[in-house]
Amino acid sequence: MTLKMNTLAEYKKVYQESVDHPEAFWSSQAETFSWSKKWDTTLEWDFDGPNISWFKGGKLNITENCLDRHIESRGDQVAILWEPNDPSDQVKSYTYKELLAEVSKTANALKEKGITKGDRVIFYMPMVPELAIGVLACARIGAIHSVVFAGFSAQALADRVDDAQAKMIICSDYNRRGQKMIPVKQVVDDAMDIGCNSIEHVIVHKNTGDKVNWSDDSDYWWHELVDSQSDHCPAEIMDAEDMLFILYTSGSTGKPKGVVHTCGGYMVYTCFSFKNVFQYEPGDVYWCTADIGWITGHSYIVYGPLLAGATTMMFEGVPTFPDAGRFWEICEKHKVNQFYTAPTAIRALMACGDHFVEKYDLSALKVIGSVGEPINEEAWHWYNDKVGKGNAPIVDTWWQTETGGILITPLPGITDTKPTYASYPMPGVQPILVNAEGVELHENDVEGLLCIKFPWPSMIRTTYGDHNRCKNVYFSPFPNRYFTGDGARRDKDGRLRIIGRVDDVINVSGHRIGTAEVENAINEYDQVVESAVVGYPHEIKGQGIFAYIIAKEGVKDVDAFNLGVRTMVTKVIGPIAKPDQILIVSGLPKTRSGKIMRRILRKIASKDTGSLGDISTLLNPEIVEEIKAALS
Ligand code: WT7
Repeated sequence: MTLKMNTLAEYKKVYQESVDHPEAFWSSQAETFSWSKKWDTTLEWDFDGPNISWFKGGKLNITENCLDRHIESRGDQVAILWEPNDPSDQVKSYTYKELLAEVSKTANALKEKGITKGDRVIFYMPMVPELAIGVLACARIGAIHSVVFAGFSAQALADRVDDAQAKMIICSDYNRRGQKMIPVKQVVDDAMDIGCNSIEHVIVHKNTGDKVNWSDDSDYWWHELVDSQSDHCPAEIMDAEDMLFILYTSGSTGKPKGVVHTCGGYMVYTCFSFKNVFQYEPGDVYWCTADIGWITGHSYIVYGPLLAGATTMMFEGVPTFPDAGRFWEICEKHKVNQFYTAPTAIRALMACGDHFVEKYDLSALKVIGSVGEPINEEAWHWYNDKVGKGNAPIVDTWWQTETGGILITPLPGITDTKPTYASYPMPGVQPILVNAEGVELHENDVEGLLCIKFPWPSMIRTTYGDHNRCKNVYFSPFPNRYFTGDGARRDKDGRLRIIGRVDDVINVSGHRIGTAEVENAINEYDQVVESAVVGYPHEIKGQGIFAYIIAKEGVKDVDAFNLGVRTMVTKVIGPIAKPDQILIVSGLPKTRSGKIMRRILRKIASKDTGSLGDISTLLNPEIVEEIKAALS
């Protein structure tokens, strides 16, 4: 429910209350939903396990709360509004009634193909309504969805299918992005050749209708399965702590991990945060430009808005097609009231010039949001002045795949905004800063490592198939705290500014990429001996990927070598992980125990002119000068 707050003082009062009595605070939020059975205990927790249960004993189905619950009050209101890639194509919309019918038919089709509660279903689809429908259909019958961003490679898709031991892949034939057509089904076919032994069926949604290869054993057309189904499907009753979905994300080591979210807490938190952060009012049109392949799309295109009974828009295309005015054209066309995008898009559009944004009527905008990476001061002001025109406050929302929902953000009209500051925690959320030893820093005007010291309902429960990994990554660095991996600064008034990752994770255009993953991909190229990957500041992407590579003897054609490296990374991970810069080196700076000194490599890649620190303890200090010389 939307909290009653109009001023900073009122926010502070509500916040204090939520921290003093968290269980009362969250149970009063949870009571606004429809439950088949009320929970027995609001919260049980232990960060050492970790073992986190919210609303234990409660029974529910999230789709009843997203759909059925709204039929009486707003059945004919648009739930999903879909804007196609090509502006001259037809807009599509689904009312709450229509969406419930489509979800039910799809759920019945999944059941017919043998999917039952607890089975994993992988989605590999573009931004078409069927993606949202399919995800909800899984939730309807208790199947666990795992959406893989359709820009990932066949290898990356197969890795995720295998880790989740999924029974089904749901994909499209092709994906339209600007002028490009991407053969989505072909990538699935390739993934099936590499691995995916657990897959029984592949369901193919006909998007463009262009020709695809077909396997009579495993492939089924979506429309042939779904269209003839009954539009009634009883919802599977789930425990509050049953898994809702798995979403893979990168970390500083190893392969991507499957972040697990569960039904009850995720439902309560995404709805609560959606309503309060965007101050959504009935009749508003809300648009988040993210892809459902990322957590932002899960929480703030599908679940949060639908739980709140909102009209949520999905956009198939890209910000620069047919031109760099597309976002603003769509805002004018649909009279968008809340707009939520990433700094990388803002910077890219800002670089195209003001005339694109000045051409359109953006007066319906009430709130504009930013997510995924730190927003720099220049982009913040441009967004505030040219898009929000001083009338629509910016909500710079900090959160993560693991947090499930927005944890730190200004609240429009309630708390103020300050350029580059995500500002204050949401009610019920308790962030702290610690030093490297884990000692909490209580004072203001201080910088530290961002941790959360108390559970919130939509927090990560485990990493799929490997609970120890969850413990080691998030809960072991600082006992009894959830560690975010981010550094942050607190100003003199207590607002937080997120500085960025302090681990070996790079944030490229708001996408999280693990350096180890990129290195492993590069090392698969047969001309490579060893590599080290770091991030460096990039004007549009926020961070770019810099690869230092020791090549095998006698690379004559550097361009061909670089192309080979990039092709390999594209094949193993996907184009988003391609290095922006590659430097062939004869060695990498290492400690005497053989650890690569990334700190030095980061400084060099960033053209940081400051001191590199003490390098005399390196095994091979001379290499530092060589690398610096090679770069200049
Ligand atoms: C990482 C999480 C949250 C959904 C999209 C990304 C960075 C996220 C902000 C922000 C500065 C931000 C952090 C975080 N990040 N939002 N408003 N200001 N940094 O989710 O892929 O799980 O990445 O994105 O570094 O740890 P994700």
